[in-house]
Amino acid sequence: MIELISVNKIYTKGAHKIAASNNINCRIVEGEFVAIVGKSGSGKSTLLNLLAGLDTATSGQILFDGADISAFSPNQYAAHRLNNIGIIFQSFNLIFSKTALENVMLPLIFAGLSATERLAKAKRVLEQVGLADRMQHKANELSGGEAQRVAIARALVNEPKVLLADEPTGNLDSATTEEILDILLSLKAKGKTIIMITHDREIAEKVADRILTIKDGVLSE
Ligand SMILES: Nc1ncnc2c1ncn2[C@@H]1O[C@H](COP(=O)(O)OP(=O)(O)OP(=O)(O)O)[C@@H](O)[C@H]1O
Ligand SMILES: [Mg+2]
Repeated sequence: MIELISVNKIYTKGAHKIAASNNINCRIVEGEFVAIVGKSGSGKSTLLNLLAGLDTATSGQILFDGADISAFSPNQYAAHRLNNIGIIFQSFNLIFSKTALENVMLPLIFAGLSATERLAKAKRVLEQVGLADRMQHKANELSGGEAQRVAIARALVNEPKVLLADEPTGNLDSATTEEILDILLSLKAKGKTIIMITHDREIAEKVADRILTIKDGVLSE
């Protein structure tokens, strides 16, 4: 489903060059749950941004269902994100003054659905993550685990093929971490492809089919 061929992402800071992605080659099969494990600064978020089409590689190819997304125009990138990718960000990225329901409905505005359809879809995914009774709460009235479930619901509402999760349990206690991992596993059971970033190898071993390690931008099996 996803193939990276000699992907490099070089950041230049004055005379300094940082290879945040360093000649990355990898394949991800549909339905796989892949964990990418690495320390802070190793290049995890950079790789996720490239996969999401939120950033472009310096060189190399990123194939998604055979199409080279590295050659996409901004409009093609936007369509790719809308149709194929759900992202759970490192820090929730919710709009805290809006309700859980409003946060989840937001991405659907770009999908050209009616208000009724948006409402029905958003309610359905919030139920799926166990938040039926919190839909009208503002995001700033939710616990960390609840906020993360809203973020998962928002990532799912477009029915993406791939779910990219950047440290989805990074800010959570161990009981809430288990709940979130269970949700991710149930999504995998429904056929979603999941790529989860974590610095915690133990968490990766609990849930992933395959663990990739990243160090100084170099990805290895
Ligand atoms: N926009 C940027 N400009 C310059 N350097 C950057 C930029 N973004 C990231 N980097 C550098 O690239 C490297 C990888 O960063 P990245 O954010 O991918 O790390 P990470 O593995 O996600 O770390 P963390 O676990 O702390 O989130 C780091 O050395 C970082 O300083
Ligand atoms: Mg990061």
